Amino acid sequence: MESKNKEKINYLTDKINQHNYAYYVLDEPHLSDAEYDQLFRQLESLEKEHPELIEISSPTQRVGHPIKSGFQSHNHDTPMLSLSNAINEQEIHDFNKRINKWLSQDRTSYVAEPKIDGLGVSLIYKNGHLVRALTRGDGYSGEDITHNIKTINAVPMILRGNKDNHPEFIEIRGEIFMLKSDFKKLNQVREHDDEKVFANARNAAAGSVRQLDPHITAKRKLSIFCYEIGSSKGLDINSHWDMLSYLRSIGLPVNPLAEKIDNIEEMVRYHQTLENQRENIGYEIDGSVIKVDDYLLRSDLGQRARSPRWAIAAKFKSKDAETQILDITLQVGRTGVITPVAKIKEVEISGAMISSATLHNQDEIDKKDIHINDYAIVQRSGDVIPKISNIIVEKRPKNAIRFNISNYNCPSCHSVITRLKGEAAYRCDNHNCKAKVQGAIEHFCSKNAMNIDGLGIQIVEQLMDSNLVKKIDDLFTLSYSDLVALDRFQDKSANNLVNAINNAKHTTFPRFIFALGISSVGQHISKILDKHCQSSVEKLSILSIEELESIDGIGLVVAQSIIEFFNSPSNRKILNNCLINGVTIEKTIFKNSSQFKDMVFVITGSFKEYNRTEVKEILEKKGGRVTSTISSKTSFLIVGDNAGSKLEKARAFNIKNINEDQLESFLS
Ligand code: IVH
Repeated sequence: MESKNKEKINYLTDKINQHNYAYYVLDEPHLSDAEYDQLFRQLESLEKEHPELIEISSPTQRVGHPIKSGFQSHNHDTPMLSLSNAINEQEIHDFNKRINKWLSQDRTSYVAEPKIDGLGVSLIYKNGHLVRALTRGDGYSGEDITHNIKTINAVPMILRGNKDNHPEFIEIRGEIFMLKSDFKKLNQVREHDDEKVFANARNAAAGSVRQLDPHITAKRKLSIFCYEIGSSKGLDINSHWDMLSYLRSIGLPVNPLAEKIDNIEEMVRYHQTLENQRENIGYEIDGSVIKVDDYLLRSDLGQRARSPRWAIAAKFKSKDAETQILDITLQVGRTGVITPVAKIKEVEISGAMISSATLHNQDEIDKKDIHINDYAIVQRSGDVIPKISNIIVEKRPKNAIRFNISNYNCPSCHSVITRLKGEAAYRCDNHNCKAKVQGAIEHFCSKNAMNIDGLGIQIVEQLMDSNLVKKIDDLFTLSYSDLVALDRFQDKSANNLVNAINNAKHTTFPRFIFALGISSVGQHISKILDKHCQSSVEKLSILSIEELESIDGIGLVVAQSIIEFFNSPSNRKILNNCLINGVTIEKTIFKNSSQFKDMVFVITGSFKEYNRTEVKEILEKKGGRVTSTISSKTSFLIVGDNAGSKLEKARAFNIKNINEDQLESFLS
């Protein structure tokens, strides 16, 4: 009897999964909603009678319990890069020319896909089972949203196909989004229930994915298209086009509008057709993505700091509206840069009300001949800050006033502002400028920096106004009695803040260095420095400009800015005070061994036993660095079959070769 019930449960599960596959992947539903609901209810009641037969991958188990401890952050195995943009046809041509030049060929095959305006997600399957889903986050680590992704019927809990053939590990990337029709319905319901409506489908999808309670997410209709594999073990695929059909075969939805593109004309045509069809497509898209098809060529092309060289996002013309510039005001950032901002007559662009737009700097104002009171076109694309694209000269009113930033002082401390040589920006150089110091302290406390809970903008301002905090290190000497004497602070809040500051003292090198706010040193650069300095701030503070510049990923601008920071006695004092007052830096444990530390490799040609990405990963895991061009810094050239010009160049530089026969013993 037991096995009869198990058989029935398996039968119903298969039927439901089959339907999901037909509906979401093939777009050929073969059951009506009512038939599907009936199967689901049958399964539910059978499982209720025999709870011992419930599998965690059962369709009834998609909606689990709310998570109590908040979202957990996890590192991505391979960073989730972003895409560089082409903003017009010429830049699409330029991209193609660049690729052909780099690859020394006349023509390259691409795959083009719509660029969906949603949220990037990473789905991790181990031996065919969905084990984790992460948001993109900052590209290096994301938040665990598995509980919510499981509620999306289009995402298989177990991959389709023979279970023995599933890769041991595969990380699939895609975009979560909401269909325009589902978004409209959701907002109608929210309006009816007197709840705040979402400004656009993207925000609605993002809000749904970031719920602690999966019951809420399950009620929102989310969709997904998958488009890349981040990393995998036990999979041999050589092109993007094959990868897309592989994803489809294992049950993941792939955008049916993806096309193989053979030349530049087709590429431009694809982009234009998509732009013309934009309004007729059931979900929001903001461009096309053009990707080199062949994986070997992709690895030859490599990547820049944040985006691969082998792909580009060709953006559609952004959405815009006409408005009037009512005033131009100035803002001071934490580095002292003064940014002019246009205060505009409020307009709506794709669901958001816009009342100010950045003007970047005086050069931009001059180039666009922007005057106060001018009529202008304001542009907004995605999450980017709105900007003034151009003014309407014919409509210039008589009271139009020319704006010149050099006539102004710092809006915060009223000091004279200056323009540095070679820079477009004006800066406030006053080290004690309140807006700068306040910005620096806010940054120091922020989530990705020291992560001091409860130290938001208003509290920072209050602490500064009461003269308790003048520099970041003053935070570490704040006491309970200092705080409890302040307005709005009570016994509990004062205690909480003292505890939060104490907890934050134990930190990591990347957090601390990022928190210091050294110009051009972001989270990514801080992580690179961590590795190089083995988590020693002392070591970082004494590096020479040459040594800094020789670190992979660090350029001259960053190197100079680090040197400048540590040359300043007041910065050194702040840093010392932080350490004296209890900041301790946990040493980062780097998983990679150091067998190939300081060695630089180039890989060329094709291999019988390995694929090129595998070789690259092994070398990197052992501490080596893999680059795409031979230079005097290259330590070894790993040569497969049909090696081209790189082999000749390596000979010219006298660089040692490792062929496939020697590779195994070399790697071990
Ligand atoms: S490929 C390294 N393909 O655009 C390239 N991304 O700016 C990885 N996106 O974070 C992304 N549609 O969230 C790729 N067809 C598509 C896409 C797409 C939307 C998003 C993705 C990514 C962002 C890059």
